[in-house]
Amino acid sequence: MQDFTKSWDNKSVPRVVAIINQKGGVGKTTTAVNLATALAAIGKNILVLDLDPQGNTTTGFGISKGRGLQSSYGVLLGLVNPREVVLETYISGLSIISSTIDLAAAEIELFSQKDRDQKLKQSICNLTEYDYIFVDCPPGFGLININALNASNKIIIPLQCEFYALEGLAQLFNTIQSIRNTINKNLIVSGILLTMYDRRNGLSLMIANDVRTHFKNLVFNTIIPRNVKISEASSHGKPVILYDVRSVGAISYIELAREFLSRELK
Ligand SMILES: Nc1ncnc2c1ncn2[C@@H]1O[C@H](COP(=O)(O)OP(=O)(O)O)[C@@H](O)[C@H]1O
Ligand SMILES: [Mg+2]
Repeated sequence: MQDFTKSWDNKSVPRVVAIINQKGGVGKTTTAVNLATALAAIGKNILVLDLDPQGNTTTGFGISKGRGLQSSYGVLLGLVNPREVVLETYISGLSIISSTIDLAAAEIELFSQKDRDQKLKQSICNLTEYDYIFVDCPPGFGLININALNASNKIIIPLQCEFYALEGLAQLFNTIQSIRNTINKNLIVSGILLTMYDRRNGLSLMIANDVRTHFKNLVFNTIIPRNVKISEASSHGKPVILYDVRSVGAISYIELAREFLSRELK
């Protein structure tokens, strides 16, 4: 297997981190919202780019979805200056480019364009004022996600501890490998994040062990447990860290932020 932790160029700015898994409902958005919040809380300057037409990251910060070009749609297609569509959130140091339902058409619109896999990279590569840009990706392997993988330095892969998890992961790593071999040789994996872990369920433990055996230290030590406060928080338009900082969900995302930063130093 390739070493997915090694990059040719580890010093590029801004650091763009895609949160990706072709499956829906595995914790991508929850991870984008809460990792971004935890890093902003310790003084990092963060931008979150919501590339999912469902817009759950946008609403997860209590922001209404954007319209037309004033959103990640305009940024993805290179039709607006991203700085003009960045929205401040109520969290200091955390900004967002919101999603819009128009994104659903972007795959088709991109298809006929010459640099169709380079568009996002061209749009966001000059946003050097941010320490990190987190890209919340939609499910699937369409052109939106190819753009996200091309524009990113790193990826975080949330993985729900369920039966078919490993199968999907093999497919995702094949895609990452072909991206590294072609359009983005600098793409590296920051880590696989086990999410919605249920310690009362033997299957969760079995899957977690399997993933660790196979992917070793590519897997974050931090595990995100299944925690009702996390889903409650998102229905209130808040990161769980602000909704209930003492909950196990909040504590584990704060721990993840620490581990993420410690991996940055290696
Ligand atoms: N650790 C968790 N514990 C409980 N519910 C969670 C957890 N992580 C995510 N959820 C809930 O599961 C659903 C799917 O999560 P989400 O982050 O939106 O996944 P994705 O972005 O991969 O589709 C959401 O309703 C979210 O609130
Ligand atoms: Mg999502």
